[in-house]
Amino acid sequence: MKSKKIIVALTGASGIDYGIEAIRALSSHDVETHVIISKWAKQVIEKESFNTLDDFQKLPDYMYKENDMSAAISSSSTILDGMVVIPATVKTVSNIATANTGNLISRAADNMLKMKKPLIIGIRETPLSPGCLHNLNQLSLYGAIVLPLSPGFYHRPKSIQDLFDFISGKILDCFNIPNDKYTRWNSVIQSE
Ligand SMILES: Cc1cc2nc3c(=O)[nH]c(=O)nc-3n(C[C@H](O)[C@H](O)[C@H](O)COP(=O)(O)O)c2cc1C
Repeated sequence: MKSKKIIVALTGASGIDYGIEAIRALSSHDVETHVIISKWAKQVIEKESFNTLDDFQKLPDYMYKENDMSAAISSSSTILDGMVVIPATVKTVSNIATANTGNLISRAADNMLKMKKPLIIGIRETPLSPGCLHNLNQLSLYGAIVLPLSPGFYHRPKSIQDLFDFISGKILDCFNIPNDKYTRWNSVIQSE
């Protein structure tokens, strides 16, 4: 049995490979992954991912469609260690911020908020509208962690993989999972 059970929800935003890389990172750190994919996330994988849909589908331990409301993870009676929505669209952010639990993603996220479990929102949009900023602020006040998909550059990235690893490392940090996915600022100073 793996040490943690975490939901990863992929929604239909650009930067979909941040989500796929997050699944890989969690899986390689003893996490059982429960992946929900929205209809539009599937489209974005086909349009821009470095991964094929077939390769992606082999990664999760468990995989759900967004309309699978009878899945075990739809109920807060299923014990989980948290959830990350990555990439998170403006639409899904709005659904979660307003407790609009019409699909499995917003329903599972609402369960995290009500059970006070970690909920990480990897928002992917730029610039941000006042409505989206309001919703992100609400989510932060409700206890979610808003994690914009905007990697730092102090670790001197040399490849796109370095950018993915920075974000995956931050997600692992949010779940208190020790990792060396990116070079921490302290190590950067010491090596100068
Ligand atoms: C190729 C592509 C890229 C998109 N990128 C974004 C994005 O970065 N951020 C966003 O909020 N919506 C983006 N959208 C729009 C969302 O897919 C759309 O709002 C959709 O209804 C979101 O549904 P979902 O949250 O259930 O996946 C994109 C759509 C397409 C087709």
